[in-house]
Amino acid sequence: MKDSALVAVENLVKHFPVRMNFIQMLFTREKKKVHAVNGVSFKIEEGQTLGLVGESGSGKTTTGRLVLKLIEPTDGRIKFMGKDITPLKPKEMRPLRREMQIVFQDPLASLNPYMKIGEAVRHPLVIHKIGRNRIQQREMVLEMLEKVNLRPPEEFYNRYPRQISGGQRQRVVIARALITRPKFVVADEAVAMLDVSIRSQLLKLMVDLKKEFNLTYLFITHDLATTKYICDRIAVMYLGHIVEEGSFKDIYSEPAHPYTKALISAVPEPDPKIMKTKKKMIPSGEVPNAIEPPPGCPFHPRCPHKKAVCSRTFPEVVEISEGHKVACHIYARR
Ligand SMILES: Nc1ncnc2c1ncn2[C@@H]1O[C@H](COP(=O)(O)OP(=O)(O)OP(=O)(O)O)[C@@H](O)[C@H]1O
Ligand SMILES: [Mg+2]
Repeated sequence: MKDSALVAVENLVKHFPVRMNFIQMLFTREKKKVHAVNGVSFKIEEGQTLGLVGESGSGKTTTGRLVLKLIEPTDGRIKFMGKDITPLKPKEMRPLRREMQIVFQDPLASLNPYMKIGEAVRHPLVIHKIGRNRIQQREMVLEMLEKVNLRPPEEFYNRYPRQISGGQRQRVVIARALITRPKFVVADEAVAMLDVSIRSQLLKLMVDLKKEFNLTYLFITHDLATTKYICDRIAVMYLGHIVEEGSFKDIYSEPAHPYTKALISAVPEPDPKIMKTKKKMIPSGEVPNAIEPPPGCPFHPRCPHKKAVCSRTFPEVVEISEGHKVACHIYARR
């Protein structure tokens, strides 16, 4: 396979030690682990957006942090711009940091309340020594504030995070992420906390900025509906595994995995005339525990199509049409 991808991860694994109290430690011999990410592989071509979708606890955030090497993988490889960055030490990562940024869900938590917005956006320029001097950096910040529609930028420069709205704050966070002109941005539930109307404005902004700056996104969301506006490809995650990956159209028109089918059927119908949403069809039952994940296919305890094999072996990944991959015994047996 050609490797023109900007980002590629192979068999990423991340296990976290389970925190135990003193009593638990006395009675347990084996060290328990959270299997947060369990062998995840994907590629993102330059200029594309991959949506990473799944329920809470499926390992999306952990995957996003691994890709940026904000945490160390237990196993697997991460390639960025064709280079294997897995073995790089934090100091060796530093020059790459300006090329890869992250936008989190809660802009209030990611902004210093005592720092003026303009200074917050200028900060990465100081860290990465970009711009000749303070005056030039200020110009760059004003230009970026304008690009994220915080106008007039001079006015926003001197405000504090608490003096602007939630949607405006997320624009500030986006401006700060883009000020170093990164190639790659991980957006982790970047619009999840916003009202629906503001959410679509922010998504539109992200799409516009992607075109303008030729960005590549990993767009993390628990809400499949938001992928509609922004994603070229979608990977569906369940309990540390990608169970299906395909183009936006593959996933929406021909979902293959029973879990993806359930997620799709739970996306609300946007028709205002009907004024109601389709009944939620997410299979009943708890998402199994990531400390003791079920053997075989992680989805089998909730799957309406489960067979004996599903509780024994993990299904191999099968490409059912070009670029459309699924890990499910229904397809493996063909
Ligand atoms: N630092 C950590 N230490 C121990 N366990 C962790 C840590 N970070 C995440 N986990 C566990 O790893 C699993 C995956 O978590 P992660 O945050 O990646 O899921 P997520 O898909 O982003 O969920 P959400 O939609 O709620 O944000 C969960 O069981 C979580 O409790
Ligand atoms: Mg998360």
